[in-house]
Amino acid sequence: MQYEETKQTLVNHPKKWLITGVGGFIGSNLLETLLKLDQDVVGLDNFATGHRKNLAEVKTLVSEDQWQRFNFIEGDIRNVDDCHQACTGVDYVLHQAALGSVPRSLADPIATNETNISGFLNMLVAARDAKVSSFTYAASSSTYGDHPALPKVEDAIGKPLSPYAVTKYVNELYAEVFARSYDFHSIGLRYFNVFGRRQDPDGAYAAVIPKWTAAMISDDEVFMNGDGETSRDFCYIDNTVQANILAATTTDPEAKNQVYNVAVGDRTTLNELFNAIKLALIDNGVIYEKPPTYRDFREGDVRHSQADISKAKNLLGYNPQFNIEQGIDRAMPWYVKSLKTNS
Ligand SMILES: NC(=O)c1ccc[n+]([C@@H]2O[C@H](COP(=O)([O-])OP(=O)(O)OC[C@H]3O[C@@H](n4cnc5c(N)ncnc54)[C@H](O)[C@@H]3O)[C@@H](O)[C@H]2O)c1
Repeated sequence: MQYEETKQTLVNHPKKWLITGVGGFIGSNLLETLLKLDQDVVGLDNFATGHRKNLAEVKTLVSEDQWQRFNFIEGDIRNVDDCHQACTGVDYVLHQAALGSVPRSLADPIATNETNISGFLNMLVAARDAKVSSFTYAASSSTYGDHPALPKVEDAIGKPLSPYAVTKYVNELYAEVFARSYDFHSIGLRYFNVFGRRQDPDGAYAAVIPKWTAAMISDDEVFMNGDGETSRDFCYIDNTVQANILAATTTDPEAKNQVYNVAVGDRTTLNELFNAIKLALIDNGVIYEKPPTYRDFREGDVRHSQADISKAKNLLGYNPQFNIEQGIDRAMPWYVKSLKTNS
């Protein structure tokens, strides 16, 4: 399989990577995998939504030698000097830093715009100036907006439904213009509802899986927006990490300057998700007996989402290793352990 070969090549010929947003959920998982492959990693984060404890946890999961290969810069992508500093001498950039969440962007569109658009542009300029070998960035399935087709195919997008979706689409437009104007090629990965260890369960803008998991572990009410038949293509973090590594290292010119769906290609309703989490928690000693509390649909949310992943399969050799149930089974022990430790 291409991913296994790519990892072996990296072990044999280590590279220098930059992960922006390294203190966050996806960033810290990328860090863990890359350090375990003996790569040199620079990390940039301002801890707007990420956590030092994520980095501390990664430290416990790698060897001392591997941890020595990590160089953390506390900085802000809204500051172009920080971006230049972080890109120095880097081979592969994995740009993850952004303000996530549709509701956050509706509440404060200016903050979302500053980080997700101005910060993104700073990173493109810095990476271009540093002549990095590849630039892979976190795009989003929110770019499909109101387009009704299912499954989602990269070329068929609709109108954005939130400021967040606008910012992620603008990222793609800037990336395209940088290819045309400066011959600087990048790859956008349109993530579809990623989940797994270290995804933040706290705060008003927490994602659904960590939020419900935390509520069930604390025996609190689980709120479901809408009738529960809203559906998503939930993607376990290890699949997302695989897509990043394959995208960053591809040498196929056809594969560059593209955007790709990164998901599993399945669709799970919120009602099904509720039951899947509940069942997986039983195996971890948590019995949750309350029914969900249904409430209004949430503004800016798309009704259904499911990815066609054939483009990433064909051009990047992407092959998701975990479906939603396997991902939930892997994620639950981490939530039970970390939430019980914190309570
Ligand atoms: N998690 C998902 O399901 C999902 C879906 C689609 C797209 N994405 C995108 O993936 C990326 C990572 O998301 P995540 O789920 O890990 O979120 P996260 O909030 O856990 O991580 C984002 C990280 O970026 C950092 N950051 C924010 N603003 C910054 C700034 N100005 N300067 C430096 N660092 C900054 C945060 O502190 C945080 O550590 C984001 O670009 C997000 O939009 C995520």
